[in-house]
Amino acid sequence: MASLTIRKLDETIKAYLRLRSAKNGRSVEEEVRVILGELIQGRPEFTAAPSQAVLPSADPRSPTVRRADATAQPRVTLIIGGGIAAYKALDLIRRLKERHIHVRCVLTKAAQQFVTPLAASALSNERCYTDLFDPESEFDAGHIRLARDCDLIVVAPATADLMAKMAQGHADDLASAILLAANRPILLAPAMNPLMWNNAATRRNAATLERDGVAMVGPNAGEMAEAGEAGVGRMAEALEIASAAERFLRPPQPRPLAGKRVLITAGPTHEPIDPVRYIANRSSGKQGFAIAAAAQAAGAEVTLISGPVELSDPAGVLVKHVESAREMLHRVEVALPVDIAIFAAAVADWRVANEGEQKLKKTAAGMPPLQLVENPDILATISKLQDKRPGLVIGFAAETENLIDNAKAKLARKGCDWIVANDVSPATGIMGGDRNTVHLLTRDGAEISVDSWPAMTKEQVAAALVARIATAAVEKPS
Ligand code: CTP
Repeated sequence: MASLTIRKLDETIKAYLRLRSAKNGRSVEEEVRVILGELIQGRPEFTAAPSQAVLPSADPRSPTVRRADATAQPRVTLIIGGGIAAYKALDLIRRLKERHIHVRCVLTKAAQQFVTPLAASALSNERCYTDLFDPESEFDAGHIRLARDCDLIVVAPATADLMAKMAQGHADDLASAILLAANRPILLAPAMNPLMWNNAATRRNAATLERDGVAMVGPNAGEMAEAGEAGVGRMAEALEIASAAERFLRPPQPRPLAGKRVLITAGPTHEPIDPVRYIANRSSGKQGFAIAAAAQAAGAEVTLISGPVELSDPAGVLVKHVESAREMLHRVEVALPVDIAIFAAAVADWRVANEGEQKLKKTAAGMPPLQLVENPDILATISKLQDKRPGLVIGFAAETENLIDNAKAKLARKGCDWIVANDVSPATGIMGGDRNTVHLLTRDGAEISVDSWPAMTKEQVAAALVARIATAAVEKPS
C-alpha cells in the first residue's frame, strides 16, 4: 500500500485538519486517527473486530479511548544535548525501552557532533527530530506535538547552555522550542565540567529551573572526560535516569495494607455425591479473586482459598485450591492467624451424608436416596474463635429476597464484623457475571450501618472494599 503522509494531502484538507485539530487541542496526526475512528464507529465489520479496543472513538471521554490509553505505553520525548555524555543517551534509549516506555528523540545541533540521528532512530525505532524548520514535521507545528504528545520530557545530557536557554525561555532551535512549549513534566540530567556546574550563572539557572518545577537527576561526582579533572558534573548513569523517568511515569502506588495478612475464600464448593458427581452452585469466584488481587496491590500478604473455578491465580497471591466445604475450612484454619479474613466463597450448605464410594448405578428400585447433612459454617466458625480470631472478619450475604433484613440477621447470626450483601436473583446476572451491586453493612456494637454502593464491576467493588478496609485498619490497627 502506498504510504500517505499528511504533507501529501491537498491544501484544503490540510487547512481543515489544522483548524479541527487546533479546536480539539490535538495534533493533526491524532485528529486524523480520531476521524478514522469516527468513520469506523458503527460499521459492524470493524466494530465487531477484536482490534476495536484500541480504536479511538469520537468522544475522548468514551471508554474506548480510556481503554486504549490505559494499555498504551507511556511516552517520553528525549532531548539529547551536545556534550560528550550524549553517547550515554543512546544507552538511555535502550533502558527506557526495556521498561516498555515509548521514546521519541530530538537531537540538538551540538548533539549531532557526538551521536547521529540515525543511531537514535535505530535504537528508538522512531523518526528522530533535529530541525525547528523541518517542513516534514513543522507544517503542523511539530515542536508543539513533540512537547505535548508525550507524558514526560527528558533532557540528557542537559548542557549548561541548554539549561541557560531554558531558564531564560529561549526558543531558537527545536529543543528549546519544545521545552518552552511543554505542558508535561520535564526531567533534566545535567552534564558539564565541574567548573561550569559551579559557575554562579549555572547555579542561578539551576535554581530558577527548580523553582519552575523542573526535576533533575544528578549530576554525579566523578572523573570528567577531560583528562585529570574530577568533581560534580558527570551525567547520572542511564539506569538512574531511566528509574527517575519511571517514577514520573508510573508513580509507586500507595500500599495501605502493607504488613497485613489477609485471608480470602472464593468460588463455589463441590460436594461429592459419588466419584463422578457433585453438588455445586453457580459462583464464578470472580469477586473473591478480584478482592485478593486488590488486597495484594494494596500491599497485603494474601492467602486465597478457592473452590473449583475457571480463573487464573492472581499474581503475588498464595492460592490454595480446594473442592469441598470441609477442605476449605481446614485450609482456612491452617492459614490462621491473619489480620483480616474475607469470606466471599459460596460454600455449599449441605453435603451428601452417604457419599457413594463407587458410581451410583440406576437400579430397578428407583433413584438412590440422597441424604444431606449440613456443612460446617466456615465464616461463623472463624468469627466465633476465642483464639486467633482475625481483627476484622467480613462475610458476604447472597440473597434473593429481603436483602438488607436478611443480611442484618446474617451479620448477627454469624458473628462477623461486616457483611457485603448482594442480590443474587437470576435477573441481576451477578452470579457468574462481571458486575456487582452491593451494600456494605458494618457493625459498631449493636449499631449496624448500611452503605449502598452503585453498580460497579467486581474489580471496582474489590477496590472500594479494600479502601474501606484500609481506612478501618488505620483507625483500629490489629
Ligand atoms: N459461609 C461459610 N460457610 C458456609 C456457608 C456460608 O463460610 N457453610 C459464608 C459465606 O462465605 C458468606 C456467608 O457465610 O460469607 C453467607 O453465605 P450465604 O450463602 O449468603 O448464607 P448462608 O450462611 O449459606 O445462609 P442462607 O443459605 O440461609 O442464606
